[in-house]
Amino acid sequence: MNLFFYLSKENISLAQAEIETLTNKKGQLIDELFFVSTNKKNLDKKLAYTRAIYLHLLTCKKDQLITKLQSFYWQKYYKKDFALRLHHSKEFTEKQLAKYIWSSIKNPKVNLKDPTTSFELFFIEDLVVCGKLISKITEPFLSRKPHLKPAHHPSSMSPKLARAIINLTGIQKGSFVDPFCGVGGILVEAGLMGFSVLGYDIDPEMLKKAAINLKHYKIKNYKLRKKDATKIQRKIKYLATDLPYGRGTKKINKKTLYSAFIKNLKKNLSHRAVVIFPHYIDYKTIIKQSGLKLKQEFSVYTHHTLTRKIIVLEN
Ligand SMILES: C[S@@+](CC[C@H](N)C(=O)[O-])C[C@H]1O[C@@H](n2cnc3c(N)ncnc32)[C@H](O)[C@@H]1O
Repeated sequence: MNLFFYLSKENISLAQAEIETLTNKKGQLIDELFFVSTNKKNLDKKLAYTRAIYLHLLTCKKDQLITKLQSFYWQKYYKKDFALRLHHSKEFTEKQLAKYIWSSIKNPKVNLKDPTTSFELFFIEDLVVCGKLISKITEPFLSRKPHLKPAHHPSSMSPKLARAIINLTGIQKGSFVDPFCGVGGILVEAGLMGFSVLGYDIDPEMLKKAAINLKHYKIKNYKLRKKDATKIQRKIKYLATDLPYGRGTKKINKKTLYSAFIKNLKKNLSHRAVVIFPHYIDYKTIIKQSGLKLKQEFSVYTHHTLTRKIIVLEN
């Protein structure tokens, strides 16, 4: 199926990478739309930085739009009732253009409130892209923000970013590991996605809080272990983690801790790890010295003293 994904402007490159990893396909980006041919199911249940998914119907130059709308076989895609929605259109209204669709359908019914068939046009400079809405991403990330969880901690990350980094590991099924799990922000997202989760932390208080959060979201398939993440000895297929750098890490030599962790990860990793470093650490040297391969990197501005560097690693 030829699909396009309407990406969140928050982080276009992260949104694109999530899709490429989950579909295992390269796509084409036009502004905030990302075009991929794929038959992968349930992407709407996984993606974090995508707003909606569409079946791609046509792309044309703006000055050919009316002719294209008149000749397109809308009946093939129409079910029950329809609405036409426009994004970023300066010169047309929905009503003006919907009449071309209306006149090509047998017994057309318009439903502006809750249409079964939603045709949508995206105006991007001199291009118009038309799609039929397949699904909107409605995951309630905001309701799971760290401060709304029963056990919280200031260093916990947003559920949306947590989802994205889990997706970047490429996990489709099986077991997921967070070696610095804290109160379990990343583990909760991986658990809700249906993966069995294993969290390590050196601080038993953090593990207690992680257990409270996992139970709160009715996640059953989890294990929590008190362990120094630099000393883990087991094969790990999929790992995503946010390294410790917030309050409470002032006394720790971060470079030493990160180097020891990455060096140990080299021994254990069999597929892919996504590790978040703070921007001010020379992570490239740490990774180079470990022998792991740096496959991709992304930046997420967090606040004026912190940009998170999201690093995808393979062995
Ligand atoms: C950035 S927080 C993790 C936040 C977590 N990603 C979340 O979203 O809730 C870092 C955690 O690493 C733990 N930690 C620090 N040094 C550690 C070590 N050597 N091994 C394991 N855990 C460690 C701290 O106790 C803290 O809970």
